[in-house]
Amino acid sequence: MLRYALVGCGRISGIHLDAVARHYKENKIKLVALCDIMEEKALLAKESYISKTNETEVNCYTSMDEMLDKEELDVIAVCTPSGMHPEHGIKAAKKGIHVLTEKPMGCDLEEVDNLIKACEENNVKLFVVKQNRLNPTCSALIEAVDANRFGNIYMVQSNVYWYRGQNYYNSDDWRGTWKLDGGAFMNQAVHYADLVQRVGGNIKNVSAFIDHLGRKIEAEDTGSAIIRFENGAIGNMNVTMLTSIGDYEGSLTVIGEKGFVKLGGLGLNKILEWKFDEEMPIDKDITNLSYHTTSVYGFGHVGVYANLIDSIDNGASFLVDGYEGRKSVELVLAIYESAKENKVVTLS
Ligand SMILES: NC(=O)c1ccc[n+]([C@@H]2O[C@H](COP(=O)([O-])OP(=O)(O)OC[C@H]3O[C@@H](n4cnc5c(N)ncnc54)[C@H](O)[C@@H]3O)[C@@H](O)[C@H]2O)c1
Repeated sequence: MLRYALVGCGRISGIHLDAVARHYKENKIKLVALCDIMEEKALLAKESYISKTNETEVNCYTSMDEMLDKEELDVIAVCTPSGMHPEHGIKAAKKGIHVLTEKPMGCDLEEVDNLIKACEENNVKLFVVKQNRLNPTCSALIEAVDANRFGNIYMVQSNVYWYRGQNYYNSDDWRGTWKLDGGAFMNQAVHYADLVQRVGGNIKNVSAFIDHLGRKIEAEDTGSAIIRFENGAIGNMNVTMLTSIGDYEGSLTVIGEKGFVKLGGLGLNKILEWKFDEEMPIDKDITNLSYHTTSVYGFGHVGVYANLIDSIDNGASFLVDGYEGRKSVELVLAIYESAKENKVVTLS
């Protein structure tokens, strides 16, 4: 059993621990320690984990350094505020511990690169959470892209029309700050940035506008970006957290020479259109992959952990490694640079 710890026992940690509890029941992974600077959060997370597993031997810490000194760990999940992921991942890597970092990998490309480097130098694996790739709807789309069913891809378009009130941003100091969070693109829509580049391919340049039109935050609550892919395709992303009727749409449209697919719903949970010139057996019942969701997080964390366990135990290939996770950070930072400096930005 892999000896596992989690740092940052906030909102998303429960989804991680639910997934770990599922794999614990198959004797694959075992939570041994939790860390949060707010002790009560670590204790609450422990209680909730015990209620699912009856496993009581979980130590709680308020200092990550102390946890790393005292515990023998194989793997750690980093669920602290986004801008802290590189620092916390590097600490673990230097102790020879495999790292699973929440999205985004960080808010600064140099720090993200340092994390990748630290994991390589210390011979540990670096996994990045991009659970939306595992939505059955998204997996089917990615398979269609990889099988070249679209032929040339002409346009990739994504909308994220959700709602986050001022209370959400006020709930924690780090939210909406450039250093630790970023805005709607870096926090909520980074999954969509990931998928845009996964289906459209490498990005050549971007041009964008962003602003905070309705919330008092440093970063953006709304923005629009135009994207040019290396293969010539054109794309765009429209993102806002000001949708007054609530979380309304998380969609992705791919228009190709030989195919047209639109995923939509609240968070890519519905196949709204699926048409290819050359039909395949999978197409007949494709809309059965649509599912109901009330959570924009989706249900992919269980699969993320299945891949992590399989990769550490058996050498299975990564769902999303550091280099793949870096791409959406690079795209969002290019969007920010374009908007701030009012210029077209070329990706390196
Ligand atoms: N995959 C997804 O869909 C998804 C969804 C939500 C959040 N996230 C990501 O997860 C991360 C956390 O988000 P959240 O909403 O859970 O935030 P949160 O504020 O609820 O939780 C962060 C926790 O980290 C703790 N913390 C801060 N500094 C620390 C330190 N130095 N050492 C230990 N603990 C520390 C805080 O006390 C807090 O409990 C963010 O990067 C976010 O983007 C991902």
